[in-house]
Amino acid sequence: MKILFAASEAYPLVKTGGLGDVIHSLPRALQALGAEVRVVLPAYRLVLEQMESLRIVGWLQVQGAGRRHEVRILEAGSRHLGVPLLLVDAPLLFDRPGNPYLHPDGYNWHDNAERFTVFSRAVARLAADNGLLDWRPDVVHCHDWQAGLVPAFLSLDSRAPASVFTIHNLSYAGIFSHQEFEQLALPKAWWSPDAIEFFGNFSMLKAGIVFSDHVTTVSPTYAEEIQTPAFGYGFDGVLRAMRHKLSGILNGIDTEIWNPATDPYLPSHYSARHRYLAGKRDNKKALLAQLGLDADEAALKTPLLGFIGRLVEQKGIDLLLEAIPALLAHPGVRLVVLGSGESRFENALRELAAIHPGQLLLTLGYSEELAHRIEAGCDLFLMPSRFEPCGLNQLYSLRYGTPPVVHAVGGLADTVVDATRENLEAGRATGFLFRQPTTDALLEAVQRALKLYRNDSDWHRLIRTAMAQDFGWSRSAARYMALYETLRGKSATIHTPSVETAGASPNCHEQP
Ligand code: ADP
Ligand code: GLC
Repeated sequence: MKILFAASEAYPLVKTGGLGDVIHSLPRALQALGAEVRVVLPAYRLVLEQMESLRIVGWLQVQGAGRRHEVRILEAGSRHLGVPLLLVDAPLLFDRPGNPYLHPDGYNWHDNAERFTVFSRAVARLAADNGLLDWRPDVVHCHDWQAGLVPAFLSLDSRAPASVFTIHNLSYAGIFSHQEFEQLALPKAWWSPDAIEFFGNFSMLKAGIVFSDHVTTVSPTYAEEIQTPAFGYGFDGVLRAMRHKLSGILNGIDTEIWNPATDPYLPSHYSARHRYLAGKRDNKKALLAQLGLDADEAALKTPLLGFIGRLVEQKGIDLLLEAIPALLAHPGVRLVVLGSGESRFENALRELAAIHPGQLLLTLGYSEELAHRIEAGCDLFLMPSRFEPCGLNQLYSLRYGTPPVVHAVGGLADTVVDATRENLEAGRATGFLFRQPTTDALLEAVQRALKLYRNDSDWHRLIRTAMAQDFGWSRSAARYMALYETLRGKSATIHTPSVETAGASPNCHEQP
């Protein structure tokens, strides 16, 4: 089974969130099951800088916005991702500073439509043209809107392999104007609600949904939620029309990178069977010291809460902000926050940190090292996300013995078992769930957690159960393999939703 992964980020080369983690860990897991996987990314400057040697595989002339690009296809070995890596090198579009989507000053690159159309056109040519690569994928697995046009371009070629499109986050939909549609010379027939037109604009995410042979999303609950107006971001109609080819497959985690027994970022190692209490305590002390606090015995006994994430509404940061004064009113409680994102949230956190020095320990920015240390050194991990397609941080925190407090949506609902008395006694409980996206509900769940924290035997049982969960990739990778098997050999077919259901959604204009 040969699979080509097309995506816009992959850890450790380039990562802004969980997508990067998945594009690193899923290909390896598939490889372990016998698949041959290659990953193709845009040749961002940041990625090229990390390459020691590259082979030029070929040249392509690719249509952009009113101009053609000379695109080089480059091949790197498997040293970086553990599987061979291909790069779409269009210097005018990708050789720049900043992150994959944003200018260093924080706004979207003005030419994102062209950047990811050229990327997708090149990937489709790579996948379908036998002459270019000495390797023909059975399935092209495309991720999120940046690769959404790949299935659409593949559908134009009768020799093309089958395609899978995975939605990691429906709220980023790659929406662009009619003018951009024309400049990019996209097929005129696609300007239709049955294809990629989306309420007067067009959406690259919709292209992936409509034209792929199968759509997956990253948890079973999110697969259901996105078919409703409340979570559908205007796509619930088209997703309901496509439900025959939609499924939810839960993400896994890389259990080597996220392993408290070997994690090179941790000052002290531990596992469910070996010194988890001492290990967590040492990591807590080191974390507090790193954040400028010399923790005495009393400080080590009081609960330390953690939050890591992009500072955007999705993550429920507004709920957290409102809850912070009440959270920190509990004697001794401290909260460690690591994140970056919208300036209104960064500023609000800065103000609160100034009001609660030594209690709200804030780091604005991005740090892999600190993220690992927070997972290990905290007692509780907060994830009040308003919606969460899967979420990886709660899985990391379970593995690190840091019970998560989560809003019961998407992958959070699928992976955390609430510490009710019944679940605790049955040895099933792993964290704390709350059902309404409100500050009161979040505070109530934290209060339950703090109460349980004071009961040693319940608390230790909760930690041991959390750490014993297996969220490695093996089960989910096997599900992807089974899916690829059903698609292998099938050439791309255009699936058109009925006019009646396509795109008809009440909240269509409330895009974030
Ligand atoms: P999302 O993809 O929506 O951001 P996930 O929970 O799936 O959420 O994955 C987030 C990933 O990004 C995790 O690996 C998390 O540790 C990491 N991450 C997010 N923000 C930061 C940050 N400021 N510093 C370090 N890692 C971060
Ligand atoms: C997205 C989602 C997150 C998911 C990640 C990887 O960024 O917001 O819930 O875990 O993708 O699939």
